[in-house]
Amino acid sequence: SEHLLGIEHLGQDEIVSLLDLADQYVDLNRRDVKHSEVLAGMTQINMFFENSTRTQASFELAGKRLGADVMSMSMQASSVKKGETLIDTALTLNAMHPDLLVVRHPHSGAADLLAQKVNCAVLNAGDGRHEHPTQALLDALTIRRAKGRLHRLSIAICGDIAHSRVARSNILLLGKMENRIRVIGPPTLLPSGIDEFGVEVFNDMREGLKDVDVVMMLRLQRERMDGGFIPSEREYYHRYGLDAEKLSYAKPDAIVMHPGPMNRGVEIDGTLADDINRSVIQEQVEMGVAVRMAAMELLVKARRARPREVLV
Ligand code: CP
Repeated sequence: SEHLLGIEHLGQDEIVSLLDLADQYVDLNRRDVKHSEVLAGMTQINMFFENSTRTQASFELAGKRLGADVMSMSMQASSVKKGETLIDTALTLNAMHPDLLVVRHPHSGAADLLAQKVNCAVLNAGDGRHEHPTQALLDALTIRRAKGRLHRLSIAICGDIAHSRVARSNILLLGKMENRIRVIGPPTLLPSGIDEFGVEVFNDMREGLKDVDVVMMLRLQRERMDGGFIPSEREYYHRYGLDAEKLSYAKPDAIVMHPGPMNRGVEIDGTLADDINRSVIQEQVEMGVAVRMAAMELLVKARRARPREVLV
């Protein structure tokens, strides 16, 4: 592919190849010297129009470890604040000949739009409620390494599904890899038409978690609730917060995941989140760097393989 805009556009083979390459980068990242020249001479620009800790830091480290020149724009201090549009901002940066443009934006479709306007590879680092493809890929790598496979698993995605691009990308990816997916949440936080995605829907955590291999928790995404129903944290934790008692309904070796940022005592018990026997939350972060290295390498190689005239 020319860009990484969503899991929607990836085939099973592409997902497996990317994860295989990412596995190699996990090994590199655990060495004392974490450096490769795969992206030497390349320029990577990160444009984050929404807050981020994990995605922004890992994209920056990924580029640097591959030898690219990496620039993370501070969008709060940019001319966007003077009224410049997303497209004009992207065209301005495009004129400086970047090879990779990483974008996070509150509007669904922002990354797709940019990809039509610029000459470089665009990586979607999260666009509104639409997709967060590198998150789903890092989750997939974490699951594959913990469970030894990425197919025929029973996986529960729990909480605020309606506002979650992480849920959407994960449902697409895990579905393509032929897993059984359950979504669990209050009816107000499940999007209409969710059953069309081939998932089983539950409103009760204990029912939904029964015998699953993987439990994926989500944050209440208040920033996208725009005046709609916002549950009280206390009530939400009581009914949907993951604790040891609710987790006991899953398989004894079920793993606990959370994309972060997490709100302890809202969607997950803090002690459980820190329990290294069950929680793979820190592994998810580690996999994030490796997956982003693999994604950028594959995009650059795909573009290099294209006929020269198309590149200009
Ligand atoms: N999981 C995730 O996207 O985290 P950040 O918002 O901190 O990047």
